[in-house]
Amino acid sequence: MIIRTENIAKTYRVGVERIRALRGIDLNIKANEFVAVMGSSGSGKSTLMNIIGCLDRPSVGRYTLADRNTSRMSAADLATVRNEKIGFVFQSFELLPRQTALKNVELPLIYAHGGWRRRRRRAKQALERVGLGDRITHRPNQLSGGQKQRVAIARAIVNNPAILLADEPTGNLDSSTTREILDLFCQLHAEGQTIIIVTHEQDVAARCQRIIWLTDGRISSDAPVREAPALRDYWQHHEQNGNATTNDTIEIVQDLPPEGKPAC
Ligand SMILES: Nc1ncnc2c1ncn2[C@@H]1O[C@H](COP(=O)(O)OP(=O)(O)O)[C@@H](O)[C@H]1O
Ligand SMILES: [Mg+2]
Repeated sequence: MIIRTENIAKTYRVGVERIRALRGIDLNIKANEFVAVMGSSGSGKSTLMNIIGCLDRPSVGRYTLADRNTSRMSAADLATVRNEKIGFVFQSFELLPRQTALKNVELPLIYAHGGWRRRRRRAKQALERVGLGDRITHRPNQLSGGQKQRVAIARAIVNNPAILLADEPTGNLDSSTTREILDLFCQLHAEGQTIIIVTHEQDVAARCQRIIWLTDGRISSDAPVREAPALRDYWQHHEQNGNATTNDTIEIVQDLPPEGKPAC
């Protein structure tokens, strides 16, 4: 199990008020799973992602990442684990505006071993992997939204992280660019990457293997993509329209959990 959370809760204090963002999350995720996290705004999705990504700690409960109990780690150890094990992608890309694509992707390698040549080579390879080998000297304002998100994905995978976390990665993209970015996630998943995506979009969730639905800081549903309540109407609609992609997905989803097997 690459991710195991045991009764995780998170309470924020704002002045005298206490906000219970997570109220007891038990979750196991295996290597090479492709998971969507859904739920209405404020249900705790980002809080959960930040804890899984070691950007934040639970108030109570235990979080084990790749067999390491993170609950008792120092802030410095947690930062090291985060740097080694986690790649993050955000809705707003979070690129450095004045730096080239290459420099942006090199950034997480500053802590890695090896000199600048090796860093440059790895950053270039990551950009090639996301289909941007011909844009390495472009700056963010010279790139489209989809290309910016590709740079962010290259930055997230440049360290070969155990887990790729994406918090609403297509929230700022149009539907055809969303599809392209999803194709890229699917490609990475087929290559063995473990991926967790927060999304509001059924089209996006439908391409994952498993849907976790949060309601008020709790998991209210955790199901294979074909059985997820959140997508019931989506599949019905596509079956009525005889959508071929859906049938492909049905076949693959039937033998869940497909260790090492692409969902799309
Ligand atoms: N840093 C914070 N300080 C105080 N409250 C927060 C903070 N982050 C999130 N919250 C609150 O916790 C709840 C869950 O937020 P969040 O995890 O961002 O939800 P989601 O990503 O599902 O929209 C919300 O009520 C939100 O207002
Ligand atoms: Mg959020």
